[in-house]
Amino acid sequence: PLTPRISPSILASDFAHLATELERIESADWAHVDVMDNHFVPNLTLGLPVVESLARVSPVPLDCHLMIEDPDRWAAGYAEAGAGSVTFHVEAAQDPVATARSIRAAGARAALAIKPDTPFAPYEDLLDEVDMVLVMTVEPGFGGQSFMDDQLAKVSAVREAVRGRGSEIWVQVDGGVSADTIGRCVEAGADVFVAGSAVYGADDVPAAIADLRDRARS
Ligand code: DX5
Ligand code: ZN
Repeated sequence: PLTPRISPSILASDFAHLATELERIESADWAHVDVMDNHFVPNLTLGLPVVESLARVSPVPLDCHLMIEDPDRWAAGYAEAGAGSVTFHVEAAQDPVATARSIRAAGARAALAIKPDTPFAPYEDLLDEVDMVLVMTVEPGFGGQSFMDDQLAKVSAVREAVRGRGSEIWVQVDGGVSADTIGRCVEAGADVFVAGSAVYGADDVPAAIADLRDRARS
């Protein structure tokens, strides 16, 4: 059986109080940090200086999801800034092999992200270079969107490919993950679950994290 990991997205938290918002998710496995540049996606969040500061105070390792153009140039910097995992989009990378290697060389886990309209098959060989694959279950750019069930087949395909290689690569889902949808993600083979509104929108944040983890185990 896979070990489920919960990665709450601070995109749904109060950006005026990020340090305390990170403390609220200390029972999680990771803190998901959505970096958006207003070019790769039509939204702008935060970048390297903020990640560097967050890495110094976070009780859990940072899971940086780069929704930016030219990740080849910037990805390793997020690892150097202290992120434990750095995810870049295959749609944006010129040289995904070199980019993944630069992240690992800087001491972080490297991951590939795939948008809903992007197929996984052309990128299967990149599994040799990464520690995780992120299957987007919404169009990247905004929190609070509805989960896309039609992405579950891609989650299964990634899990199959990982199993076929006998590797330990994690399969992450991001977008619309909640108590209602996490079961379907588990069935499809996901083991890392990003949840923004389902965690920070809850009255009791630690209870929401525990509930998601319970549901992911069963
Ligand atoms: C969307 C981001 C997600 C977002 C998820 O582009 O990548 O990480 O924060 O938010 P929810 O869980 O609310 O769909
Ligand atoms: Zn994300």
